Amino acid sequence: MDVTALPPETLGNGVIPGPVRQAEPVVWRNPHRRDAASVLAASAFSEADMRGAEARWRRFDPLLARLFDGTEDGRIDSSLLPIGPDLARTLLGGGAGSVWVKADHDLPVTGCIKARGGVYEVLTYAETLAAAAGLLRPGLSYAAFASGAFRDLFAQHTVAVGSTGNLGFSVGVMGRALGFQVEVHMSHDAKAWKKERLRQLGARVVEHPGDYGLAVAAARDAFRDRDDAHFVDDEDSVDLFLGYAAAALDLQRQLASAGIAVDAAHPLYVYLPCGVGGAPGGVSFGLALIFGDAVRPVFVEPVASPCMLVQLAAGLDRPVSVYEAGLDNRTAADGLAVASASMLVARTVGGLIDAVVTVPDADLFVWLKALWTGAGMRLEPSAASGFAALARFLTEATPPDGASATHVVWTTGGAHLPDAEFNAALARA
Ligand SMILES: Cc1ncc(COP(=O)(O)O)c(C=O)c1O
Repeated sequence: MDVTALPPETLGNGVIPGPVRQAEPVVWRNPHRRDAASVLAASAFSEADMRGAEARWRRFDPLLARLFDGTEDGRIDSSLLPIGPDLARTLLGGGAGSVWVKADHDLPVTGCIKARGGVYEVLTYAETLAAAAGLLRPGLSYAAFASGAFRDLFAQHTVAVGSTGNLGFSVGVMGRALGFQVEVHMSHDAKAWKKERLRQLGARVVEHPGDYGLAVAAARDAFRDRDDAHFVDDEDSVDLFLGYAAAALDLQRQLASAGIAVDAAHPLYVYLPCGVGGAPGGVSFGLALIFGDAVRPVFVEPVASPCMLVQLAAGLDRPVSVYEAGLDNRTAADGLAVASASMLVARTVGGLIDAVVTVPDADLFVWLKALWTGAGMRLEPSAASGFAALARFLTEATPPDGASATHVVWTTGGAHLPDAEFNAALARA
């Protein structure tokens, strides 16, 4: 986004559309979208960074395979699933195109997309510590990180994070598995069961009376000057961003093996639930590196928490919050209950996003139930938002390339939802 071309303060001048300020669902086409090549050329990150992240993931395959059941090959990746004809018909509203699900709700180890960033950043920290301690020798299998001198080293260090829940869980699972101390700062509205799950892992949970942003800020302050600790900054971490970006290579491989073309004549629409923006931003960045303009990222946000929409619409180079737009940031999509988007993400991918679609909470439960009864997919409310967005996007935006388009809905979490939580969500449909 070329923020220098914009007037200094536009938020008060009605740049945020009225329906957004009224918490009504909208399809907002991003006026700042530019060609991918120029956005990527201006970025601080490159394809080499994404490939470097992929290489680090692969170095750790033997460790992850050793530590976690269900990751025999050590890969934290999910299936790309076709959607059945009945659901596809409903979603496409009679239109053409094909719909797939990138099933991160069932991602190994944590059952949510945030592992792609959170696990990756803990591994990066562990590798940095091990290198500084002289523990890395040529030819070493990284399975060694789970034992002996490595664990002794990690036990002297703390990994901290501020989270709505799922990033904390991802950092907690990986951190504890390596023997780190883990401290997770959470907001008042984070789910109680997500806090309990962390305590059972042996993580320290610090609760804050304010929202997610305040929890992150408090954790950042608490760990600022600690050289025996690492703070995973959900709002501002390059490692998180690159960990997410590497997911694009997984999707590329799966699209190719399903025989799905992605090019100028065959666009790829990807529906990504957006909280602070790291996960959808990183994935979009990686996909743009691979597919250029043929990929059309559609970010999905709750009507009460459209932080990326207001950030981009305001066009200001300072954090803008949904509170400034008169919204209350209260949503059943707890993973998306974020008032201010990551500036790192807004600056890096603001020019790549095709649209932001906002969805009311009621739609999340309708789709959560439809995906359970129609496809046996166990989603949390945040993760069902992509379906609500797809239906609305196709109705209101009517992309001209509909028949030749592929739509991928990224289901970002849910498999680990406790039965009571899941049944309560089903009952709200
Ligand atoms: C289930 C789920 N989906 C999507 C997201 C959005 O990720 P981000 O906050 O990086 O935008 C989150 C964030 O915690 C989440 O928990």
